[in-house]
Amino acid sequence: MLRHRPRLRGVPVTTNLPDTTGLGSIDRDGGRVRVDDKAMINARADVNQLLPLKYHWAWEKYLAGCANHWMPTEVSMQADIALWRSPTGLTDDERHTIKRNLGFFATSESLVANNVVLAVYRNLTNPECRQYLLRQAFEEAVHTHTFQYVCESLGLDEGELFNMYREVPSITDKAAWALRYTRHLEDPAFRTGTPETDRAFLRDLIAFYVVFEGMWFYTGFAQILSFGRRNKMVGVAEQYQYILRDESIHLNFGIDAINQIKIENPGLWTEAFQAEIRTMLGEACELEIAYSRDTMPNGLLGLNADQCEQYMRFITNRRCAQLGLAPVFGPTDNPFPWMSEAIDLKKEKNFFETRVTEYASGSTLDWD
Ligand SMILES: [Fe+2]
Ligand SMILES: [Fe+2]
Repeated sequence: MLRHRPRLRGVPVTTNLPDTTGLGSIDRDGGRVRVDDKAMINARADVNQLLPLKYHWAWEKYLAGCANHWMPTEVSMQADIALWRSPTGLTDDERHTIKRNLGFFATSESLVANNVVLAVYRNLTNPECRQYLLRQAFEEAVHTHTFQYVCESLGLDEGELFNMYREVPSITDKAAWALRYTRHLEDPAFRTGTPETDRAFLRDLIAFYVVFEGMWFYTGFAQILSFGRRNKMVGVAEQYQYILRDESIHLNFGIDAINQIKIENPGLWTEAFQAEIRTMLGEACELEIAYSRDTMPNGLLGLNADQCEQYMRFITNRRCAQLGLAPVFGPTDNPFPWMSEAIDLKKEKNFFETRVTEYASGSTLDWD
């Protein structure tokens, strides 16, 4: 089947590959979608037809994401504002950690969102996965909104916060590392279909889902939740719990997607490629260790950079296991077992026992 595919500078190029965007001409003579024709990448099946479902795990994650709906403005910031304004409320070290932490997340949420929308969506050729990506993209917008809301509530310098990913080397190093893996995928001419480009897509999924969302967010979560456990910055800590709950689903979606692509394309997952991915995860771990030392050079709230280093090695090994890879580091215990409790948050039973109004769809509409 020949399709016209748009290329840069508006010059149409004819290929013999199936349309995987969903925006090509309609195949009037094609048969109905068969579930066996659906595939994670390079699918032959029409990507505009959700049913019949093939990947129930993707649909379940879409439903779980919807069930976790929240908005940052639901969380009261009054206690945080009072603490932040009080000259004796926080130490200089604590303020430094909080600002660096917020500065990392403030733009990271946008980087992740841009990767989902501009790189992942186009290349993941399955409608139930795309349904989840649409939900995830909205959640990333909610997360970016959270940092706008926190910045405004606390009266932080927005220029300082939103430029840290350019101006603070330990944050820039992480963003620059991840952008290496998405830049060429955002090229409109990029498409999967060869072992080389399929592996490029897998690298992007690993860099963003496993490293960015699955490793680099976790030092930040541990820092802010430590404040919350000490009854400090409880509003921000509550926001982070909701973000953590969303991110744990994003991570699990990414792991499932990567493993499904491996199952469908076993030739991609060679020994050499596995070694390359383990090297990627090791590099990412070192970047995170440097970031944790930079954000809390002196330790605080019972946390120190050595523990964060151990935690990141533990997380790195855990991500290797989830991808079916040998561990990068020797056996490492989790120094923050309470993080598991935080991940299991139920919104109606808040970790910090602050009051939360359960979200009700349509509750703000007035039909009278
Ligand atoms: Fe996010
Ligand atoms: Fe995310």
